[in-house]
Amino acid sequence: MEITKNLSMQPLNPPERILMGPGPSNVHPRVLRAMAIPTIGHLDPRFLEIMDQTMQLLRDLFQTSNPLTFPVSGTGSAAMEAALCNIIEPGDRVVIGINGVFGGRMRDICERCGAVVRAVEAPWGESIDPTRLVSEATAEPTKAVAVVHAETSTGVRQPIKEIGDPLRSTGTLLVVDTVTSLAGIPVEVDNWGIDVCYSGPQKCLSCPPGISPITFSDKALEAVSNRKSKIQSWYLDITMIRKYLGSERLYHHTAPINMVYALHEAVSLIFEEGLEERFKRHNDVHEMLVEGIEKIPGLDMAVEPGDRLPMLNSVRVGQGIDEASLRARLLDEYGIEIGSGLGELKGKTVRIGIMGHSCTRNNVSLLLTALRELTGKGQV
Ligand SMILES: Cc1ncc(COP(=O)(O)O)c(C=O)c1O
Repeated sequence: MEITKNLSMQPLNPPERILMGPGPSNVHPRVLRAMAIPTIGHLDPRFLEIMDQTMQLLRDLFQTSNPLTFPVSGTGSAAMEAALCNIIEPGDRVVIGINGVFGGRMRDICERCGAVVRAVEAPWGESIDPTRLVSEATAEPTKAVAVVHAETSTGVRQPIKEIGDPLRSTGTLLVVDTVTSLAGIPVEVDNWGIDVCYSGPQKCLSCPPGISPITFSDKALEAVSNRKSKIQSWYLDITMIRKYLGSERLYHHTAPINMVYALHEAVSLIFEEGLEERFKRHNDVHEMLVEGIEKIPGLDMAVEPGDRLPMLNSVRVGQGIDEASLRARLLDEYGIEIGSGLGELKGKTVRIGIMGHSCTRNNVSLLLTALRELTGKGQV
């Protein structure tokens, strides 16, 4: 009890950091202030208005007219689970593109839903040929194709429209993970033929984690209403969540009120900047980063230019450099967080995120200086 009392009197005091890893990114002060606005009831008419506005902001961000577009109460993985468990029933055939960690996570969720999974794989660090996914999906009746638009574990960008267009006239649904891509590069849900699309808040939206955008097309909702079995998850069941979001306003679970404020403010900031301007900023800052990295001996870009994401940069670390010590010294001495390589790339690459509010020329300039200093003196 005495220990607990002592702990409760200590300030939290987290250090100041420049967040240039795979997420979270730095949060705009306006978003932090929005989180401190007084909590009101989740059925309060004013909160319902804020929720409706948030849903419209998310439609504009996803470039969709899907009525069922809303924030999932949970992290990006909850949105991934919501996307998949609502449409997949035991025995359904699902084709999944796997070229990194998050394609693998999709497979795990689909298997837990009882799906028969057909994986279409590509080496980590390369995109998947869309025609391979489409021909696997059209070979046999297939419920869904699921792919990751921006594979955060490798920094690879996956073409989507080339998969969505041929699937549009079929009964197969297209599920796309845009956790890292949304608000950093174009995501055009309706134009690309995406049926279920989800994202996360802590990457290019620069909102703290804990609430995640998602959208379902009418074709996806038809598949949900044709289900023969119950949706596996009670918490993420969209047939119940819809009754809260729609005119019935029926209680399902208590919406995370202050996280909704934060998301509303974060997406408002995106539209104040302008989507096109935001995409250009990510691209310009990425080009500056690449130019600088290529001049530092021992570091080079791990992904081919055509497959590269602007907001997540995998950098190969040469033999003489210890990537763990490099990351630790960047954090300790410069307050800069970058990420390690994951899975097959652990120890061989580092991941540099330039996302949302963290995506500035100042941050890249500081990081390049730090990298030059640390690697140049052979200190890491
Ligand atoms: C592409 C992708 N999908 C899903 C997730 C899972 O999101 P979360 O960690 O917020 O649950 C992440 C997280 O980094 C991600 O990068």
